[in-house]
Amino acid sequence: MEFLQVLPVHRCKQYVSDCCDLINSEWPRTKAARLQMLFMSCDIFPTSLVLILNEEQVVGHCKLGEIRFGGDEIIIETVVIHPDHRGKGWGRILMEDAEEYARRKGKKKIYLSTRNQEGFYKRLGYEICKPILYFGFCDRTPEPLEDNGISNGDTKHSENIP
Ligand code: ACO
Repeated sequence: MEFLQVLPVHRCKQYVSDCCDLINSEWPRTKAARLQMLFMSCDIFPTSLVLILNEEQVVGHCKLGEIRFGGDEIIIETVVIHPDHRGKGWGRILMEDAEEYARRKGKKKIYLSTRNQEGFYKRLGYEICKPILYFGFCDRTPEPLEDNGISNGDTKHSENIP
């Protein structure tokens, strides 16, 4: 029996180290840099959500940040499902929980950028959009989300499916 939960990482800090390892298995970086990112997670963004299997294993992660401080647009980054558990619908579960989390916080629109997972996000109702300017939380240099910027109209992806 599989029991899945999506939790903000700052509310279950026992998972921080494993979450760090999962993200770094996909996009290697120093553990210190990753930990710094995860320890910035808070209730008012940025927020890292972890997908937990059977209250013991970190099997997914995504990070939600505000595009502009206090605005109603969110960017979702660093979405990853453990390689052993891909293709089981868990990425959808994580993303739908992330959308619900954003909605509960009053957010209206979600953006993300991907280079090779357009098919996954399109299945979830996201659409290609014009590039946007995103000022990262720490790095104030403008980062245009170029040709593969993808948005989800009002966080209800089903409304965007033709
Ligand atoms: N192309 C087309 N459709 C896809 C793809 C794909 N590459 N991947 C999944 N789907 C579809 C599935 O068939 C499923 O469709 P259905 O619900 O209609 O049956 C739906 O998308 C949901 O699939 P899941 O099984 O929930 O996806 P999974 O759990 O495998 O997670 C993920 C997808 C997160 C992309 C995973 O493959 C992964 O971690 N990849 C490596 C890291 C990565 O590339 N992350 C995205 C970076 S972009 C960013 O972070 C914004």
